[in-house]
Amino acid sequence: MQSAITTSKLIKMKEDGEKITALTAYDYLFAQMVDQAGIEMILVGDSLGMVVQGKATTLPVTMDESIYHTEIVARACKYAMVIGDMPFMSYQGSIDEALKNAGRFLKEAGASAVKLEGGVAVANVIEKLVKTGIPVQAHIGLTPQSVHQMGGFKVQRDEDRLLEDAKRIEDAGAFSVVLEGIPSDISKKITAQLQIPTIGIGAGLECDGQILVLPDMLGVNYKKVPKFVKKYADLYTDITKGLSQYSKEVKEGTFPSKEYEYK
Ligand code: KIV
Repeated sequence: MQSAITTSKLIKMKEDGEKITALTAYDYLFAQMVDQAGIEMILVGDSLGMVVQGKATTLPVTMDESIYHTEIVARACKYAMVIGDMPFMSYQGSIDEALKNAGRFLKEAGASAVKLEGGVAVANVIEKLVKTGIPVQAHIGLTPQSVHQMGGFKVQRDEDRLLEDAKRIEDAGAFSVVLEGIPSDISKKITAQLQIPTIGIGAGLECDGQILVLPDMLGVNYKKVPKFVKKYADLYTDITKGLSQYSKEVKEGTFPSKEYEYK
């Protein structure tokens, strides 16, 4: 199903100076809430590996896992553009492999676009996907799939390289770019130089839009979150409180009381 948000609508929002909202989601329940809140983009991020599967990095996430989660998110969404995140080694090997894997997100999972990490190095892949009719969101700066090459999840400060990556991505036909872990003065310059929207995460206020990892911003995660995450709810506390109360009432024999019984 075509969602209400299209690539041309997003580019128009940038032209009009209207900020773009984006969040990740991985399942039907949360995707439905995010969609109904009017968030414009839902990324089924490979952060899946860390926040849902409990792994140390995003690297082990597979194509089949990403397709599974993207399909259930897409089924929940009527408004938001759903973007499938291409896992590590699903697009770096060859253009043919990238095309085949990107196509699965649109064909099998119902996504409207894909995201992949990298700048100059993946510009030829972006160009091929876009020419084939697959909208691509790029992702530069702190690219978690390169965690080992970066020596950790580190803020990226090479301004010349970031600007070159951003320009090449735009020239290749990407419809937007995620800027992750970049000082705000550099994000401001990139945003000013591009026609396509920049979506920031840990990249300051000057981007055209913002994205956060949903369990982090809802406080579902009890682990330490990065400095750029603002917690808009404290679901970990609310949920664990509810679970303890349930356990207490079952053990003391007060649940189910009369009102929860059939006659
Ligand atoms: O995988 C992910 O959730 C992402 C966002 C952090 C942009 O790439």
